Amino acid sequence: MKLQSPRGTRDFYPAECAWRNYLVQAWRTVSIRNGFEEVDGPIFESLDLYKVKSGEGIVSELFHFQDRGERDLAIRPEFTPTLARMVAAKANSLPRPIKWYCVPNLCRAERPQRGRLREFWQWNCDIIGVNDATADAESIFTMIDLLRELGLRSEHVVVKISHRTSVRHILQKLGVPEDRIPQAFNLLDRRDKMEEDEFRQEATKLGLDEDRVERFEQTCRRKYPCGDVDHMCRSIGLGDTMDDLRALDDKLTAFGIADWCEYDLGIVRGLAYYTGTVYEVHERSGAMRAMAGGGRYDQLVELFGGPSMPAVGFGMGDVVLTDVLVDKGLVPENVMPRPDAFVVAMSDTQTTAALTLTARLRAAGLHARFSYKTTRNLGKLLKDADACRARYAVIIGENGEIDAKKLADASQQRVTTESLMELLCKTREPLARG
Ligand code: HAM
Repeated sequence: MKLQSPRGTRDFYPAECAWRNYLVQAWRTVSIRNGFEEVDGPIFESLDLYKVKSGEGIVSELFHFQDRGERDLAIRPEFTPTLARMVAAKANSLPRPIKWYCVPNLCRAERPQRGRLREFWQWNCDIIGVNDATADAESIFTMIDLLRELGLRSEHVVVKISHRTSVRHILQKLGVPEDRIPQAFNLLDRRDKMEEDEFRQEATKLGLDEDRVERFEQTCRRKYPCGDVDHMCRSIGLGDTMDDLRALDDKLTAFGIADWCEYDLGIVRGLAYYTGTVYEVHERSGAMRAMAGGGRYDQLVELFGGPSMPAVGFGMGDVVLTDVLVDKGLVPENVMPRPDAFVVAMSDTQTTAALTLTARLRAAGLHARFSYKTTRNLGKLLKDADACRARYAVIIGENGEIDAKKLADASQQRVTTESLMELLCKTREPLARG
């Protein structure tokens, strides 16, 4: 019987695992230096948790099942509801502001396609308890810090920012009735996937005449530079409704990241719980799906039984991020852990010595491997050392003498166990990237 991995999932052989660990390590490093603490939750939750406020898109993509007690459960498609539930449960005892990160694997029953799989890893950073644009800006800063950490620059990617309140005002001004505003948000969210005619038809259903559909489209299509909200306000003629974006603009400028960001009022995001700022990271050419997305969700904690607590955060997946890094030539040649030493014995009488030496190197925290081969063909053994990219081949001769051969330049020196340890400790790299 030949079985394959389920549609839209991946097997992680050592090279793929090393790559995932490379990303996870970058996510962790950046989270910690931006002051976030790690959390995690269960891989499945009550189905209701997602039905409350995640929105149609997520609910239609849930992997759900019943346990033996006929309780309805779902595999987590995102982390935000779990986070809001966790905060709600302990809100009064948690020191504020709450700054949490996590790196869960998530499952969505999407149609697998470029950039979208059924299981993926997603880095989340959320700031809870701060009702101020500083937190929105810090969450965007953290996201950009990660992009920089991996070698991306503002020529490669852009953070597209919008604000649901501002978009709501624009829709109201155009005459969209209050009860059709959620429909209008939904239409905006799907706009890039639609033909122009189809978009116009649906916009007309919102009660807009041709002229207004045109203005609606134009407003959503235009991009405005960050650092100049006034220009956007003047062009749209909605000065006082843009105060939230104006406050954010100041903070983004203070963080020095205005050149990475632009305002794009066409961004509203599919998830139903967002209440204010919303943003997405895109590769500049626009050819790929969003690399990350987030926003402010000020009512979710309260909805899950906690006190009223403002919150803002984002999620960034591993799939599109990898595609973009590959596309920009930013994937390091090899991210597998590199051994400090590869120990080989040139005589059967020295196999015990090889194991003892390997054990001593490992006890000192060094990454040491030894050869299982019994051949005395040094050429073959060095080939194995090279294949795993060891820094040094440690060769134990017939009489127990030890030579350290640096594989980068083939230079060799006679060493004692102590001088070998000293040499290797000086040149070692951190043990694992994950
Ligand atoms: P989201 O926009 O659904 O937001 O997902 C965020 C990112 O996760 C996407 O931009 C993409 O990189 C990745 N992603 C989503 N679905 C898939 C998929 N099927 N395959 C591969 N990657 C995917 C959320 O999940 C929000 N909960 C984020 C958030 C955190 N908002 C506030 N805090």
